[in-house]
Amino acid sequence: MQTRTLGRTGRTVSIIGLGTWQLGADWGEVDEADALAVLDAAYAAGVTFFDTADVYGDGRSESLIGTWLRANPDSGVTVATKMGRRMPQEHANYSLANYRAWTDRSRANLGVDTLDLVQLHCPPTSVYGDDAVYDALDALVAEGAITNYGVSVERVDEALAAIARPHVASVQIILNAFRLKPLDEVLPAADAAGVGIIARVPLASGLLSGRYTSETLFAANDHRTYNRHGESFDVGETFSGVDYETGVRAAAEFAAVAREAVPAATTAQAALAWIAAQPGVSSVIPGARSPEQARSNAAAGSLHLPASVDAVVRDLYDRDIRPSVHERW
Ligand SMILES: NC(=O)c1ccc[n+]([C@@H]2O[C@H](COP(=O)([O-])OP(=O)(O)OC[C@H]3O[C@@H](n4cnc5c(N)ncnc54)[C@H](OP(=O)(O)O)[C@@H]3O)[C@@H](O)[C@H]2O)c1
Repeated sequence: MQTRTLGRTGRTVSIIGLGTWQLGADWGEVDEADALAVLDAAYAAGVTFFDTADVYGDGRSESLIGTWLRANPDSGVTVATKMGRRMPQEHANYSLANYRAWTDRSRANLGVDTLDLVQLHCPPTSVYGDDAVYDALDALVAEGAITNYGVSVERVDEALAAIARPHVASVQIILNAFRLKPLDEVLPAADAAGVGIIARVPLASGLLSGRYTSETLFAANDHRTYNRHGESFDVGETFSGVDYETGVRAAAEFAAVAREAVPAATTAQAALAWIAAQPGVSSVIPGARSPEQARSNAAAGSLHLPASVDAVVRDLYDRDIRPSVHERW
């Protein structure tokens, strides 16, 4: 497993981390035993970075990680959580009083005195330009509730605004073979400023595993059923904002290229390794619903792709994806 420094946190993390939205809710059922087995499998395979949020299953994901941390007190795993989406999305809610309440709850859920990294969870765009927001986050660090803070963003302009702030440790952004825009400005700016990049939705919600078809059905309580058109939250979080049928076709093309270029790897592993190879990426955080997925994803952290894959990804993106997504985020 390759490792990277996670931006201004200064912490060393595995290039493949673990997204744990699946261990909370919104992806069909994952029972508690399976959830803990996912964490075990990821860690055993070299993963040392878990991403969660206070809102995933309204604290279920954080609490399961807390259970796991108690059973593995010396793991050294860095846990990043997020805050801000348990309240209406209003700028005024991003206050020190709310930060204290939100982080107290996350500290209790995770069973830690100090949170390693807290990310603002896709707040309203105006929040990124407000000095008081960052002053309050600095106060939270000074009080010892958190060690570092970062942001999770929807749009590249939000990422660039956050990177310009002196104490933002990391930016989490959608980056995958169907979302190349962060490569233009965000990754170079983050690299220059020493800000970490956490690449989320790396498999475009599973599309880039290449195994979905027009007939694939998702559970009723899976956002890939109920948020396909942005009914509940930003549509960019579901299939990376790509129309499902377009995504299935483009993923089949990517799968064919990956099979030829790296026959020993799965399509999902090739998709993850392509992101990991982008300069400036600190950790790629695929979500996993089973220990097998977690193990397979972790193995991508030591996979090397031929350069030809990069050219194909860019061509595929320009042809099939760019027209409908590039200007939106
Ligand atoms: N706003 C935010 O800050 C935000 C938003 C979204 C996500 N995130 C974070 O980013 C993480 C990753 O994004 P994501 O979970 O939305 O999307 P993702 O990682 O692109 O896709 C996850 C899905 O891919 C499939 N998959 C995973 N590993 C696989 C493998 N080895 N082989 C085949 N299929 C595999 C699974 O689908 P099946 O269920 O079909 O098996 C899984 O549920 C989340 O868990 C969360 O921590 C943050």
